[in-house]
Amino acid sequence: MSTLYDEVIYPNTPFAQTHPGRLATLAMLFGMDPAPIHRCRVLELGCGDGENLIPMAFENPASQFLGLDAAAKTIRAGNQEIATLGLANVRLEHMDIVDAGPDIGTFDYVIAHGLYSWVPEPVRDKLLALAKAVLAPHGVAFVSYNALPGGRVRQMFRDMMLFHLGAATELDARIHGAREVVQWFQASQPSEGQSSVFQSQVDSIMERRPQVLYHDELGTVYHPVYLREFAAHAARFGLQFLSEANYHDMQPGNLPSTVVAEIARVAGGNRIVRDQYFDFMKCRMFRQTLICHQDILLPAAPLAARLLSLYTASAAKPVSAKPSLSSGVAEEFRGGRGTGVTTAHPLTKAVLLLLAEAWPQTLSIPELLAGASRLTGEPPDPEGVSQILMATYAAGVIELHAQHLHCVARVSQFPAASELARSQARRGRFVTTARHTTIEAGDENIRLLIGLLDGTRDLGALTGELAPFSGLPEAELAHGIQVNLARLAEMGMLVS
Ligand SMILES: C[S@@+](CC[C@H](N)C(=O)[O-])C[C@H]1O[C@@H](n2cnc3c(N)ncnc32)[C@H](O)[C@@H]1O
Repeated sequence: MSTLYDEVIYPNTPFAQTHPGRLATLAMLFGMDPAPIHRCRVLELGCGDGENLIPMAFENPASQFLGLDAAAKTIRAGNQEIATLGLANVRLEHMDIVDAGPDIGTFDYVIAHGLYSWVPEPVRDKLLALAKAVLAPHGVAFVSYNALPGGRVRQMFRDMMLFHLGAATELDARIHGAREVVQWFQASQPSEGQSSVFQSQVDSIMERRPQVLYHDELGTVYHPVYLREFAAHAARFGLQFLSEANYHDMQPGNLPSTVVAEIARVAGGNRIVRDQYFDFMKCRMFRQTLICHQDILLPAAPLAARLLSLYTASAAKPVSAKPSLSSGVAEEFRGGRGTGVTTAHPLTKAVLLLLAEAWPQTLSIPELLAGASRLTGEPPDPEGVSQILMATYAAGVIELHAQHLHCVARVSQFPAASELARSQARRGRFVTTARHTTIEAGDENIRLLIGLLDGTRDLGALTGELAPFSGLPEAELAHGIQVNLARLAEMGMLVS
C-alpha cells in the first residue's frame, strides 16, 4: 500500500545526534556499559531511504544495521544506494513497524527520529514495545518528538495553516498557502516587541524545505507531549529516561539562578520533574530523548570519572589572535550557534586552545592532559581537566565522543575524502562528513573537487583536472582549491 511518504518523498539526511557514538557517550557518562560502535547492532525505525543509517554502516564495517520503513519507494532508493556502495552490513526493509516482531533481532541502539509525534497511538505504543523487546540489556534508544508546552505554539501555526489550506492536497498548493498565511501573520504583528517564540516559528516555517513542512507541520497526525507524559509512556513499556541526546539541552541555560534554585527545591532530585519545569520556562518545542531499560540504576548526574575513556573536540576558537595563558588575562572562545566561554583560568584556556588547534579532530583525554601540562608548565591535572570538560560540555562548547572521529585537521599533500563522500558528490549535492553531518555542495566545482579527493592527487594534479571545467587562470584556480580544501577540512570532510 502506498503511503503519503511515497507520494511526497521526505528528504532524509544524516543526524549526528542519532549516531550510536552519541548514544554510547551519554550512556557511558550515566554509568552504563554500551556496546562499542565499531562492533554493534543498530535498528532505525522510520529510516526513510537510509541516508542516516548508510553512512554509519559505511564507517563501521564490523557493525550491523537494519532500517524499517512503511514507504516502499524510499526503501527501494536506499537499497539501490547500498548496492552502489557494495555494503553488506546494512539492510533496509519495507515494513510497517506494527508488523515487526522480536524475530528482527537484538540491537544495541534503536533510533526513531521524526516518528513518535507523527503516528497514531497504536504505532507509538508499538515503537516503545519494540524498543523494549529488541534492546540489549545495556542498549539505548533515541526517540525524538514534538514537546509541550512549545508544541502548542506550533499547533497554533498548524491550525492556522490547515484552516487556510482547506481541501488543497497538492504539495505546491499546500506550501504556497501555508507560507502565505504565515506571512499575513507576520505582517500583522507590531514591529516592536513580537514574541521571539512566534518569530522563531515564523522563521522556521518559511525556511523549511517544502517536503519537510508538508509532513512535519501539515501531516495528518500531530501529537506533541510533555516530557513527563513521554517518560510515563516509556515506563509503561519498562523503559526509563536516560538523557537528552544534546546534553546541553538539559541544562538551565539562561534561566535565572533564583528560578533554578526554586525548581531544584520543588523537584527534590527528580530529574523528570526538574526538566519538565525547565521545558515550561523555555517553552520547549522538541525533544530528542534517550531511553534505556528500567532496571538499570542511573546516577542523578553524569560521572566525571567516565570522561577519562572518552574523546573530545571543540569548534570554539579564541577571539584574540594571540591568546594569553597567563592567570588573570580573560580570553574569549567562540563556538557555533551562540555558544562560547570567556575565562581567565590558565588550564581552561590551555584545554580550549588545544581543542581549537585540533578541530575537527578528536583528542583522547590522555592526549589533552599531556598537551595542557606542556602549555601550562604544570603537572597533568586529571581532576581539573574533568571539571573543565564537564562544564564546557554542559555549556555546549565542547563535544564528547565514544571513539576517535576519522577526520583530519590539516590539508595534507594528497588530501582525501571518504569513498562514501566521493560517491555522493558524483551523484548529488548532499555529502556526508566524517562527523556524520551533511554539507550541501550546491556548486558543481566543489562536487567535482570532492569527487577527486581519493588521496592520490596533490594540488597540482587537482588543478590540472579541474582546469577544463573552471575557466580560471591556473594560479587563481589553485588558490581557490586551497581555500575550499581548508573549508572542507574545517567541516570534517577530509580523512586520513
Ligand atoms: C518524518 S519522516 C522521518 C524520516 C527520518 N527518520 C528523518 O528523521 O529524517 C517519518 C518516516 O517514518 C515512516 N513511517 C511512518 N509511519 C511508519 C510506520 N508505521 N512504520 C514504519 N515507518 C513509518 C515514514 O514512511 C517516513 O519515512
